[in-house]
Amino acid sequence: VTTLPTPQTEIEPRLARWIERQGRSVLRQMVGVVSQPGVISLAGGLPAPELFPVEPYGRALQEVLHGDARALQYGPPIHRLKEQIVELMARRGVDCAVERVVITSGAQQGIDIAARLLLEHGGAVAMERLSYTGVQQAVAPLVPKRITVPSDLDAGLDVEALEERLRAGERFAFLYVVPDAHNPLGVSLAPERRERLVELAREFGFWLLEDDPYGLLGYDGDFEAPLAALDDRRVIYLGSFSKILAPGLRLGWMVVPEEAVAKVGIVKDALDLESSGLTQRAVTTLLDDFDLDAHLDLLRDTYRTRRDAMIEAVADQLPTGCRFSRPAGGMFVWVDLPGSVDAEELLMHSMEREKVAFIPGHAFAAEPGVGRQSLRLSFSTLQPERIREAVAAIARCLP
Ligand SMILES: Cc1ncc(COP(=O)(O)O)c(C=O)c1O
Repeated sequence: VTTLPTPQTEIEPRLARWIERQGRSVLRQMVGVVSQPGVISLAGGLPAPELFPVEPYGRALQEVLHGDARALQYGPPIHRLKEQIVELMARRGVDCAVERVVITSGAQQGIDIAARLLLEHGGAVAMERLSYTGVQQAVAPLVPKRITVPSDLDAGLDVEALEERLRAGERFAFLYVVPDAHNPLGVSLAPERRERLVELAREFGFWLLEDDPYGLLGYDGDFEAPLAALDDRRVIYLGSFSKILAPGLRLGWMVVPEEAVAKVGIVKDALDLESSGLTQRAVTTLLDDFDLDAHLDLLRDTYRTRRDAMIEAVADQLPTGCRFSRPAGGMFVWVDLPGSVDAEELLMHSMEREKVAFIPGHAFAAEPGVGRQSLRLSFSTLQPERIREAVAAIARCLP
């Protein structure tokens, strides 16, 4: 490049306006902090690696690789995998045709696809005041108007508040909702709220984007059926192998209304043509001779013990006046602190004095100012003893 003639004036190329306005997310900033040696982290939202089906997956992968070189070729999605996904949906109480299943590279890609499919540039989207950061990031390039609704720690998204907004004339393309074991709130949506949401979607003509990565990880029995069981024309459902097998597979699925399947294919083509055919084949082979029931039981037993340890520690060690969720599954407990404690300051103290990390609630704020007095605590990767130690350490840092 140094040999090219330089024009008299040079114009700097620019990034798109939407990304120039984005700051680094709190979650990203925390990655460096929590990976320091000696830190006990309640910050991550990662599944426990000791539960990954390493051996059986390795065997399945070998079998696929040695069976047919087409495993490494471009190719259409693997039909057998879609059939297996239909079986997983049936476990969730959803009866769906194989034609409605689209394989994705994780639920995160499903959110991205749905945003591109449903949202106009500058259009409106509804989500909870405290929402999974991945949806906030996926819609950001479309610079939407965000309509934010409150949630309760025991029943989830406040559907009445949503209805008031709708009756007042507010409109949006889709509502993003995590029906069970919400990230970050740890709450499941009450059954009557599920029904009401679908009724509102019918009355006001919006889409429901249902993100359900924890749907098979209910620790006190199966979860209620998701919204997708109540409506097959307005719900776009997202599933994932990340939490039930391993996130490194980067494999998930969408269940979409039949009329939308071809359009979803157009968006998916633009993103990555197709999810890894090798991984799809390996997961299909794994699922074909894997005791998924036993595997899910192991996950649920392990996480249940950790969840119980965390709820007990939070109830016993944090001051009275704290409000917290009692998750029926998933990986997170949400804590609202009493008084005027700032969660970010608390994090600074707990890192400096105790080397314990968590995520301050405002990292999930879809509306400015919310979550400042709240913590998201993850129980998925630590032994019960460490969970108790970590919560006690946070309690010592409270004023
Ligand atoms: C609510 C929610 N949606 C989506 C994802 C991303 O899932 P995947 O690994 O399938 O992309 C996560 C991961 O933590 C999540 O918590």
